[in-house]
Amino acid sequence: MASSKKQYLLYMVQTHPNFRRAELESLADMFGIEVDFCDYDEGSPFCVVELESDEQAQQWIRRSVLTKAVFEFWGRGTTLEEMHEAIRAHPTFEQRKEQFKHSSFKFEFENYRGGKKKDMATKVKQIETFRYVGFEGKIDMKSPEQTYTLIEEYEAPTGKTPAATPLSYLFGRLVQVSDRASMDVYDLKKRPYKGTTSFEAELSLVSANIAQVKPGTLMYDPFAGTGSFLTAGGHYGALVLGSDIDGRMIRGKGANADIGSNFKYYHEASQFLDVLTMDFTHNSLRSDLVIDTILCDPPYGIRESIKVLGAKDPERFAGKENLIIDGEKAFLRKDYIPTKKPYSLDALLDDLLAYSAERLPLGGRLAFWMPTANDENVETIIPLHQNLELKYDCVQEFNKWSRRLLVYINRGDGYNGPTNGGVQRSPSNFRERYFNHFTK
Ligand SMILES: C[S@@+](CC[C@H](N)C(=O)[O-])C[C@H]1O[C@@H](n2cnc3c(N)ncnc32)[C@H](O)[C@@H]1O
Repeated sequence: MASSKKQYLLYMVQTHPNFRRAELESLADMFGIEVDFCDYDEGSPFCVVELESDEQAQQWIRRSVLTKAVFEFWGRGTTLEEMHEAIRAHPTFEQRKEQFKHSSFKFEFENYRGGKKKDMATKVKQIETFRYVGFEGKIDMKSPEQTYTLIEEYEAPTGKTPAATPLSYLFGRLVQVSDRASMDVYDLKKRPYKGTTSFEAELSLVSANIAQVKPGTLMYDPFAGTGSFLTAGGHYGALVLGSDIDGRMIRGKGANADIGSNFKYYHEASQFLDVLTMDFTHNSLRSDLVIDTILCDPPYGIRESIKVLGAKDPERFAGKENLIIDGEKAFLRKDYIPTKKPYSLDALLDDLLAYSAERLPLGGRLAFWMPTANDENVETIIPLHQNLELKYDCVQEFNKWSRRLLVYINRGDGYNGPTNGGVQRSPSNFRERYFNHFTK
């Protein structure tokens, strides 16, 4: 039986190619959309996929950040003529012509990797080559019912000279633009409350997509800092809760400069549950609280070494737990600064995995960022937990180090996945090595 599916063209960005497919797959899975990625090529911004309907394409791409738009795919060719032949030869061409004959419309022109900006005369000339389609609706540049896009793909420019002739022409009817515009809305430059740890907008939104943050569910960031991931989660409709060991992060920088006020600024205050000052390793959230998604950026130990509540030297601290100052228990006073002890990143990440295995529902996702040095001779060991399936390991490379978004799915007790089996994972201190420019 012939497939009732239609062809759609994805036009993706070429930044973070590593994360692109993970985002598309995660969103498709979240909406129960089956997609065959056989045409997917990490080196290309184009991918043709088969989908049931425009509605399905809209639902899928509306949230994507690493896609620009999805089009009903009409045809492709190495020359304009060849592309027109492909459009005419398409089995549903006559049907398409009829369906949109009377719709108001406009044409848009995109160049991938070069080409000159087209003047009006060239645009009109190109539009005229589509005469055979028989568009009878009126041209409406502001709010057309249909937008047709001609994309020209060029060879990579040599030096500063862009290639003169396109490698290929692609044509389609716009079905949905992506959520890329949100990168501008959530741009850190415009955010009222931010700090040195704030995470950039693009990859925090992408992280929330790969983590499958869903509207009306509970998302938790145990290392909330200035709340970048809470903001991204709130944007996708989750109810967000955060905590951080550093009360200064939670208190913010005065009126209208804290995490809650960022939510007001984005008109998303109803998504913000709360943030609390808390050491993750002494977690006070109810143990039977189901957390749908955990998304975070744990301390890398770069700016300051990793510390948790506790006494470095328990013997010296013994007996001081209940110290009384001015008739009040010291730890109940507002100015009390609890003692902290050093902790390792490995141990903290193990705690995060164990916590997630306990709190996430089956199928729930944990996503977090982990730094690694790019040494050829040091194997990167990814933390593992027997109940969690490691679904994605998306790497963002910098010069001498990289960070990776690790995404796990809770598969429950019966899963019995691989573990690290007591392997020492970070033999050398990342913080020291970062400041020594990875020369040691
Ligand atoms: C890399 S930053 C996260 C930044 C955050 N994504 C933001 O948007 O600002 C890590 C955060 O973890 C916090 N932290 C460190 N140790 C912690 C612990 N044991 N429990 C909770 N938070 C901790 C730090 O205070 C810091 O704010």
